[in-house]
Amino acid sequence: MSENDLRKQIEKRRTFAIISHPDAGKTTLTEKFLLYGGAINTAGSVKGKANSKYAVSDWMEIEKERGISVTSSVLQFNYNDYCINILDTPGHQDFSEDTYRTLMAADSAVMVIDASKGVEAQTIKLFKVCVMRHIPIFTFINKMDRDARDSFELLDDIETVLGIRTCPVNWPIGSGKRFKGIYDRDAKTVRSFQSVATGGAKAAAETDYAIDDPALKELAGEDLYDQLLEEIELLDGASDPLDLEQVQNGELSPVFFGSALTTFGVETFLNYFLQMTTPPLPRHSNEGDIDPVTSPFSAFVFKIQANMNKAHRDRIAFMRICSGKFEADHDVYHVQSGRKLKLSQPQQIMAQDRQVISEAYAGDVIGVFDPGIFSIGDTITMPGSKFEYEGIPTFAPEHFCRVVQLNSMKRKQFVKGITQIAQEGAIQIFQEFTAGMSEIIVGVVGVLQFDVLKYRLENEYGCEIRLESLPYEYIRWVGDPTTDVTKLKRMNNVKAVKDMKGNPLLLFVNDWMIRMVLEDNEGLELLEFKKN
Ligand code: G4P
Repeated sequence: MSENDLRKQIEKRRTFAIISHPDAGKTTLTEKFLLYGGAINTAGSVKGKANSKYAVSDWMEIEKERGISVTSSVLQFNYNDYCINILDTPGHQDFSEDTYRTLMAADSAVMVIDASKGVEAQTIKLFKVCVMRHIPIFTFINKMDRDARDSFELLDDIETVLGIRTCPVNWPIGSGKRFKGIYDRDAKTVRSFQSVATGGAKAAAETDYAIDDPALKELAGEDLYDQLLEEIELLDGASDPLDLEQVQNGELSPVFFGSALTTFGVETFLNYFLQMTTPPLPRHSNEGDIDPVTSPFSAFVFKIQANMNKAHRDRIAFMRICSGKFEADHDVYHVQSGRKLKLSQPQQIMAQDRQVISEAYAGDVIGVFDPGIFSIGDTITMPGSKFEYEGIPTFAPEHFCRVVQLNSMKRKQFVKGITQIAQEGAIQIFQEFTAGMSEIIVGVVGVLQFDVLKYRLENEYGCEIRLESLPYEYIRWVGDPTTDVTKLKRMNNVKAVKDMKGNPLLLFVNDWMIRMVLEDNEGLELLEFKKN
């Protein structure tokens, strides 16, 4: 393949994650994107919540039982001349650390906000990870067909709670029953609101009005029309200009309004989004930046999923391709083990199907069979290159349990099981400084992971456990790992533990206690992410 053809393939790729608080409309928006790409024919096929008709990531029994998605998956489809990879993240409240890690593989993020609610708790946490990575963040303010909060207030909310500046690309006229349409600030036209049946494919013929068209005034009604003119003036005077460089550095978020359910504003959003985002960019490694086009194949592992096929007890490692072209029959080099290997059963998810693939490009995500050699953050290169991509941070768990093993005869299986599950990154395990291996504390990002742990230990390792909930909600890594945590002051109600590598950590019941410990222990540094 010539470099030119390779460049074309890579430049048409857009790889992004959609983040939102549960119920803001992420699934509905994803589905509408897929409809536009012609990848699916009916709405409701991405995730049939109630009847679980089909769920793309329905791999684990537990997901089927509960009708929710525990793990993230990737959806690829073509739209116009673009090849789009959507990194899907669990929409349920009980999402896991995978959700954070998935953001490490994305080049940009779409943040869906419910117009009646504004920024919600889950959005804040996910958003922090995007900010840490300086990736572009696009905001889609959804559900304008329902009564919404004041649009200026919503922008203010994003700016103050999330600390990012905003630039509305379009602006709504009314909301709920009085939702009339959306004004495009660049084209200076209004597209009138039309509801498309929930299951319908594409939007019906849409009508655009020039801002001074008398028909628009009639459509909107005098009140809303005058309000629109006032708001446009205010926006033009006060909001930040749309500086693409700032967008690309994650400093300014372009904001769009719409209604995913009625498909209104979705296509406009998608078109602007695709124009404003970049194809895969060079990625940092310990040997400098790796160019996506001119460097040969390289990738890093961001997720490991066990037992997708229960009969075989296999593991699938998901890797994001960062440079070049992947070809299934070529040898690759696993930097961390120093081994040359072939990636077996490489597969990709194209809308609804999992397909075995023979080639893929920078920007794509592939899942490969993992014979137990990969860890989260590992780098894969072509033989001859040995660079490593920056590791994936360990994110702070927010829920903690003490694990009590019920059958002490199965100690070996228990230790093996819990260690393996921790290696996959679904849970984090800690030990008390005083208790040794007899007491294991498990920390998770989403509480559902406790059920997953219990289920898997029983089903895969034959070990019954009881989980005793602990009151801690905050964990901090001690900046200097040589600190003697037993000597710290103000440690009543604070638990000191160590991770499997022996790094000291502190568990807190509330945020306030973190501040007290910091105040009383001069020079102590506490970290929210652990860089690996
Ligand atoms: P999530 O993935 O972020 O959790 O949200 P999801 O898309 O599942 O949407 C949550 C609920 O909000 C769904 O209703 C969905 O139909 C509704 N919704 C999404 N976008 C819009 C919108 O633009 N306008 C309105 N009015 N509603 C919207 P549900 O009743 O909980 O589920 P379902 O039974 O309809 O699937």
